[in-house]
Amino acid sequence: MRLEYPHRTERFGAVRIRNLQRVIEIDSGPDRGDDLASDLAAVQCVPTSRIREIEADLVVVVPCKNETRKVIEGVLSGIPHDCLIVLVSNSDRVPVDQYAEEVEVLEQFCRVSQRPALSVHQRDPGLAAAVKAAGMPELVGDDGLVHNGKGEAMLVGTALAALSGRRYIGYVDADNYVPGAVTEYCKAYAAGLHLAGGPFSMVRICWGSKPKLRDGRMFFSRWGRSSEVVNQFLNRLIGEYSGFGTDVIATGNSGEHALTMDLAVRLRTASGFAVEPYHFIDLFEQFGGLLDTPHADVLGSSVNVVQIESRNPHFHDDKGAEHVQGMRTQALNALYHSPICPPSVRDAIQEFLEAEGAIEPGTRPPTERIYPPVATMALDIFYDALVAEASSFRQMQRREIVGVRGDAPIRRPALLGDSAPAGCGELLSSQADASVDA
Ligand code: GDD
Repeated sequence: MRLEYPHRTERFGAVRIRNLQRVIEIDSGPDRGDDLASDLAAVQCVPTSRIREIEADLVVVVPCKNETRKVIEGVLSGIPHDCLIVLVSNSDRVPVDQYAEEVEVLEQFCRVSQRPALSVHQRDPGLAAAVKAAGMPELVGDDGLVHNGKGEAMLVGTALAALSGRRYIGYVDADNYVPGAVTEYCKAYAAGLHLAGGPFSMVRICWGSKPKLRDGRMFFSRWGRSSEVVNQFLNRLIGEYSGFGTDVIATGNSGEHALTMDLAVRLRTASGFAVEPYHFIDLFEQFGGLLDTPHADVLGSSVNVVQIESRNPHFHDDKGAEHVQGMRTQALNALYHSPICPPSVRDAIQEFLEAEGAIEPGTRPPTERIYPPVATMALDIFYDALVAEASSFRQMQRREIVGVRGDAPIRRPALLGDSAPAGCGELLSSQADASVDA
């Protein structure tokens, strides 16, 4: 992949945010060692071989709630072959069991493409039991089930991904109509993770455009209705601390993003649609140097954020204006309540939400639920409880020859590498064999 060179980097403590890099070539071929433009720092080029290496170490989590079969099939087909797919579904199970249909789609896909995958239903009582047993009762609501919400699905997906022992994790929505866009996002994750380097990195995608039908014509709008607002407030926060206005954040709401697993398990997760902007906020809280952090080791190095503008348009299910307003309200609620949010930004958020009618004049925005990092979970207990109690949990393994067992998505004895942070360490001590539902 060939990308524009990021000539600007904004710092916030140990967090370094590179400005948006546009994709120039989705496939730039092998590294021939004679790339003049790269030598002149006009572009950055990531060889196809390196992208493939990272893909083989990448888990792609797909949160899904009541999307159609054809669209899900398209999304799966766009995820590069060597990535491990983790489906976390919150689809209706009555009157028709849509999750059963999703599992059927995934199993069939894995069978014909010979690849492994994991899937679980967010509202499976067995999942709630596993999450509780692993030490994250906050994720479970009064009804005894894991809370609804996209952030919650991503948290479950991250915990499953951590079990796989792979080094990178990315997220793609299940409602993307363009399989080629999914492929480009995953390639961009790999390219960005390579370019970011280091153990603590994040890649966030900004879509080239978002097509909409307007007066019978296709209009390719540049920014989503939520992104525009959320980016503006996040940039304002950075500007308040640096004393210089900035527009460096172009991906505040990015549903498509990837991280090194080392970083993913250290970050907290916000509920629902606050999840994506909160990843930025938590980076600033934990690695911005303003608050005490349990990760002093990370402060010594840097946390690199690479932002990539895709070539593909983002063509997805339009869930309406109210949905978009709800999404940006959740994002702004999370920013408002951050301990590092300066009073001037708080006031501006309050004013904005009042003007939108999202809150009553003079009232404070509601808080969003914030969950602890996956690193605090006892993942070995989580896994054992999942296998024992979660009837919706499926592990599909790669079968190289019909009837012969191949690669399991979770290989128990080597669950995580040596760099696993506190909390994940328990995994390493367990030597039991994985029980695989093939
Ligand atoms: N498992 C699970 N649980 N999945 C969910 C849930 C849930 O409670 N809620 C939504 N999803 C899935 C949807 O099925 C879809 O695949 C994906 O999460 C995104 O949800 P949408 O409701 O389709 O969001 P959107 O497309 O309007 O917004 C997307 O883009 C925004 C940026 O503009 C999302 O990715 C947002 O998170 C993002 O900020």
